[in-house]
Amino acid sequence: MAKILVTGGAGYIGSHTCVELLNSGHEVVVLDNLSNSSEESLTRVKALTSKYLDFVEGDILDQQILDQIFAAHAVDAVIHFAGLKAVGESQQIPLAYFDNNIAGTISLAKAMERAGVFRLVFSSSATVYDEANISPLNEGMPTGMPSNNYGYTKLIAEQLLQKLAAADARWSIALLRYFNPVGAHKSGCMGEDPQGIPNNLMPYVTQVAVGRREKLAIFGNDYDTPDGTGVRDYIHVVDLANAHLCALNNRLKNSGCRAWNIGTGKGSSVLEVVKTFEQVNGIPVSYAFSPRREGDVATSFADNARAVAELGWQPKYSLEDMLADSWNWQKRNPNGYRK
Ligand code: NAD
Ligand code: UD1
Repeated sequence: MAKILVTGGAGYIGSHTCVELLNSGHEVVVLDNLSNSSEESLTRVKALTSKYLDFVEGDILDQQILDQIFAAHAVDAVIHFAGLKAVGESQQIPLAYFDNNIAGTISLAKAMERAGVFRLVFSSSATVYDEANISPLNEGMPTGMPSNNYGYTKLIAEQLLQKLAAADARWSIALLRYFNPVGAHKSGCMGEDPQGIPNNLMPYVTQVAVGRREKLAIFGNDYDTPDGTGVRDYIHVVDLANAHLCALNNRLKNSGCRAWNIGTGKGSSVLEVVKTFEQVNGIPVSYAFSPRREGDVATSFADNARAVAELGWQPKYSLEDMLADSWNWQKRNPNGYRK
């Protein structure tokens, strides 16, 4: 069993990963500045697992806090979720994104090097692939220039980590390229809790269903897809969390830097998501078609064969499970983690 530092562990994917880590017997230290989360998620992690975790409120850009954590804990590996993720905001305040996502990753790697900790699992995104690639996307395909600053920070962080591992054989780094994480813990106690108006499809759908928003705008119905709406590879957050445990095990045994797609390999259209949500949960979702959103591609889904073969990982949950679990979380917690 290992001791894992989880940066951004109070966030959506991080908190679900903490549950899986603790349930597998690992020890967990979370570093989070709570800029997009609340400590309540960690309270729920502890309640669900009946296990203890250490929480440090602080910033990955703070070298002193990082040094203190590595001095106080014999950390074996780091899972690095901390970062900013709102695409629209990244166009308005690019420096905040460069700072948190690029400088933050460098800051963390410097502290790891000082502490002699060289195993890292990094949250990357399918957005790093060149838009000209045709799905299913595999890791051998070229990366491109993402259409927004958020995506750009993920690409740069990936490249920096690749160069770091190439220059120093002590490093062992996993780049996990997530497709579209959705869903929530089966208990309904934990889930996605976006602040303000959701940018992403799933929280928007559940907020319409619960009556917090009037209508979903479906961005485009004239794409070259079976029903004209955008196709994505939705992946259950618990399957995604488990991919981190598999990547961790792989990194404890190997060196270098390697990318893995984390998706189901199955594309679903926006209309399919809406219709399946209505069917599975027995609740209507009003929607209207609106123009395409800038920067969206028609279709994006994964070839996940590398992760299945090399990490021994297998997604277990269907789209129906994802939609049932997202709704279970939303209806039990209409205001997310806020009371
Ligand atoms: P999230 O916002 O819920 O979690 C990120 C956490 O990091 C938050 O708790 C936030 O408070 C914390 N944080 C941000 N900046 C920090 C800093 N400088 N120091 C310390 N803590 C900081 O987001 P998430 O959906 O859980 O995403 C986790 C990671 O996965 C992010 O790096 C994100 O870019 C990446 N990712 C997410 C998606 C997605 O659709 N959710 C897709 C691809 C990649
Ligand atoms: C978006 C980001 C991507 C980021 C990912 C996770 C863009 C262009 N891409 O991916 O960089 O890594 O989120 O944060 O923003 N949709 C609607 N109505 C809505 C919301 C979405 O129709 O209100 C549609 C979209 O057009 C798309 C699908 O739903 O076809 C999924 O959208 P979303 O959840 O935002 O994810 P991505 O666009 O794949």
